[in-house]
Amino acid sequence: MRTLWQHCHVASMAQGAYSIIEDAAIITSAGHIEWIGPRQSLPALNADRSVDLGGAWVTPGLVDCHTHAVFGGNRSGEFEQRLQGVSYAEIAAQGGGIASTVRATRAASEDELFSSARQRVQALMRDGVTTLEIKSGYGLDLASERKLLKVIRRLGEELPLTVRSTCLAAHALPPEYKDRADDYISHICEVMLPALAAEGLVDAVDAFCEYLAFSPDQVERVFIKARELGLPIKLHAEQLSSLAGSSLAARYQALSADHLEFMTEDDAIAMAAAGTVAVLLPGAFYFLRETQLPPMDALRKHGVKIAIATDLNPGTSPALSLRLMLNMACTLFRMTPEEALAGVTTHAATALGLGHSHGSLEVGKVADFVAWQIERPADLCYWLGGDLPKRVVRLGREIFN
Ligand code: NIG
Ligand code: FE
Repeated sequence: MRTLWQHCHVASMAQGAYSIIEDAAIITSAGHIEWIGPRQSLPALNADRSVDLGGAWVTPGLVDCHTHAVFGGNRSGEFEQRLQGVSYAEIAAQGGGIASTVRATRAASEDELFSSARQRVQALMRDGVTTLEIKSGYGLDLASERKLLKVIRRLGEELPLTVRSTCLAAHALPPEYKDRADDYISHICEVMLPALAAEGLVDAVDAFCEYLAFSPDQVERVFIKARELGLPIKLHAEQLSSLAGSSLAARYQALSADHLEFMTEDDAIAMAAAGTVAVLLPGAFYFLRETQLPPMDALRKHGVKIAIATDLNPGTSPALSLRLMLNMACTLFRMTPEEALAGVTTHAATALGLGHSHGSLEVGKVADFVAWQIERPADLCYWLGGDLPKRVVRLGREIFN
């Protein structure tokens, strides 16, 4: 089926800029973009049907490239504690934090995890998200990590969006390995990753490099195993302190290093050289009431690609709107709306290793796009949440109107 979409303006986000086409037309067939350009240059192709988009602004489908959307329970009780002055690190040291979500997640069935995650993913989809990354990391033993990764795969099969799964077994130390972090890393490398990868459940490998999680040496062992298994890597780095985790990630050609408030200019140089995307997470920055800003000038100066994501998780970013993160990226991190929008489209796709097929509207790429009833692209960064009128197209088919 060949479809002509017209009466619209396009911000194609090619090369990470708006790349605006006014009075545009798009031809899709077999789930891909066959032609895109100004309507007056439309080639003489016979379309099976024509859709009038009513003057909408069309952007790529949004890409949320960092979430922990599958988990049991929630941590609103800890939120109340933190508001009374107890810090995230103190709560973690008392057995709360990630460990409390691990207990709730281990206790939940696959079906329970699926149905609570589906609601959260559907909330993201209402914002125009058509591609989503989800990490495991609240299981921390083979059976529980497998359960999470299977739920992640099932979300991609049952919902109309592209889901990439990341194994984050090196997220925190499980209670069984108390004071034995090196042994847990060995278990990840020798048992968990090989088994989960062999079962086809893993698209990428992530770890949490932080003084309250794993050291750079421990993370490097995970990277070496990931490389051996042919899996791309990502890293939670420089969120609370500066350990040069992002430089380590760059040395292993990581797809991305994420958080990064405490990264240095040297880290930025290493990431730029490796093509490692900087994924900034304004929701976690806001929710933890952090004050150290990511070094925007160094990132721009060295040409590091910047992505923005929700980090949807129960502890540090219970964020159900990627558009709200666009606003926070602009307001808190001083990004321009154009940079922020590139951060949830083309650069976010690159952070998932999908830059060749997703994230911008160009011939040959997937026909994933959103037609927004807005006045200009900056409206997407301007409104604080809410539900903007839109039509969402995935693989050339309308999934949401
Ligand atoms: O991305 N930084 C580590 N992991 C999550 C938080 C996880 C949690 O507190 O449950 C994050 O912020
Ligand atoms: Fe995270």
